[in-house]
Amino acid sequence: MDVALRRKPMSEAEEDLSKIREGRDLSFFDLTSIDQVSLKDLALLYDVARRFRDYRTYKFSFNKGYSQVNAFFEASTRTQASFDLAAKQLSMDTTSVGSTNSSAKKGESFIDTVETLSAYNARAIVIRCSQAGAPEFVARHVAASIINAGDGWHEHPTQALLDALTMLDECASEDLSGRVVVVVGDIKHSRVFGSLVRILKKLNATIRVAAPETFLPDYVEKFGVSTSWSVEEAIEGADVIYALRVQEERGAKGDIPTLREYSKTFGISAKRLALAKPEAILMHPGPVMRDIDVHSALVARHPQSRILRQVENGMALRKALLWLMCDRADGATKSYELL
Ligand code: NCD
Repeated sequence: MDVALRRKPMSEAEEDLSKIREGRDLSFFDLTSIDQVSLKDLALLYDVARRFRDYRTYKFSFNKGYSQVNAFFEASTRTQASFDLAAKQLSMDTTSVGSTNSSAKKGESFIDTVETLSAYNARAIVIRCSQAGAPEFVARHVAASIINAGDGWHEHPTQALLDALTMLDECASEDLSGRVVVVVGDIKHSRVFGSLVRILKKLNATIRVAAPETFLPDYVEKFGVSTSWSVEEAIEGADVIYALRVQEERGAKGDIPTLREYSKTFGISAKRLALAKPEAILMHPGPVMRDIDVHSALVARHPQSRILRQVENGMALRKALLWLMCDRADGATKSYELL
């Protein structure tokens, strides 16, 4: 199927994708939080992402003539590489700025940096930064579509979109009703959790959280999740185990005695995985700290691991998002107010 798809003439492949899209549009012009994404948006994104996934690295001309800037002020492998490749596979021109090579280093304000990038007629600006809420703020003041690729401890919406796609494919269903998802680890510093919990609620999953008390902020309760200090208790009968990295760069080491002790009490081992349902899957947003959040043997090759599937879905999902955001069927444009 793959090879046949890749040999299709471009016009046929594009017609195929356009048919799946059926002239539908997303309800938002910027993506800064999962709160903006409706169930209708999810259905559209996933229909298109699944088809892009079939076509793998096929180069589409949908976004030709549009540019994308990747503005990453924090480290990234997966998110930055997949946004860049996704844009290129849609025929966009891309460029990157970051904390070491941008004028932010010379004291330029965030809004001035982003307004400058937008003035190059960039159609999309993908932002990763340490300030929670900054992408949402700049989105109100520039013409470009802003995509939050992780803002401080707050949210990382495209990660949640690709994670939910991975879970839904596994269950072969339209929502996660009756499915138990256990999130294990450094909840407090995790923007991945911030977006994941919101999308899991939308999809009706039952959410359990297992972490040391110091990794569990009070606001977790407001999401209606059950919490436990025993990872064994939380994993019992689960459908999905989602492990998070201990975020040392955000001071997490001050919340636990040692990484070794954390690994012993919360690290996902084969023995702990066996407490979940036999067909349960193991997920992690990456980067994985082997033998701390997840035992090494479970990371890439284990039959229950979906960690590389998440990465693959990230490409397809980001391609769908960029196409739907930049090339609207209704021709509508974003409204914004210069500061
Ligand atoms: C995450 C991040 O940066 O928030 N990584 C990612 O985007 N896949 C998670 C992490 O760094 O632990």
